[in-house]
Amino acid sequence: MTELAPTELIVNGAPVAAAAGPDTPLLTLLRDELGLVGSRFGCGQGLCGACVVLVDGAPMPSCQTPLWQVSGQEVTTVEGLSGTPTGAAPHPVQQALLDHQAAQCGFCISGIVMRAVALLRERPDASEDDVVEALDTHLCRCGAHGRIVAAIVAAREAV
Ligand code: FES
Ligand code: FES
Repeated sequence: MTELAPTELIVNGAPVAAAAGPDTPLLTLLRDELGLVGSRFGCGQGLCGACVVLVDGAPMPSCQTPLWQVSGQEVTTVEGLSGTPTGAAPHPVQQALLDHQAAQCGFCISGIVMRAVALLRERPDASEDDVVEALDTHLCRCGAHGRIVAAIVAAREAV
């Protein structure tokens, strides 16, 4: 059996062999090597949530996740969310955020979308309090929290 190199993983359904070293943050691979810039660099310290992606379905801050830690695993970014090759069709959570005009500058939104998708997949009946708790580690400098929470609650039916 062939062993995977520590920098081989699956990103949005496609195998990737990173040129970067195994200690490189996943966010750096996504943005700088693969051009997937939907995941944002905010604090770089795991404190703001702007860089959150799904790793085997679980939300993780990609700025604090070295490549060796996700070797062979399935990474989903906001670009891979809709299930279309181009990510063109909005996911129901994204549509709800649009419908509620929840995004202001949008910097925090992709990380919040990934967190919300993970929550609603696991807990389709999540309460408003559950949504607030799940978003606890996500900062929004525009103060759009109220509309963001309302949008995610409204998206429950559609996910
Ligand atoms: S940039 Fe990763 S948590 Fe802030
Ligand atoms: S919408 Fe601007 S940081 Fe959240």
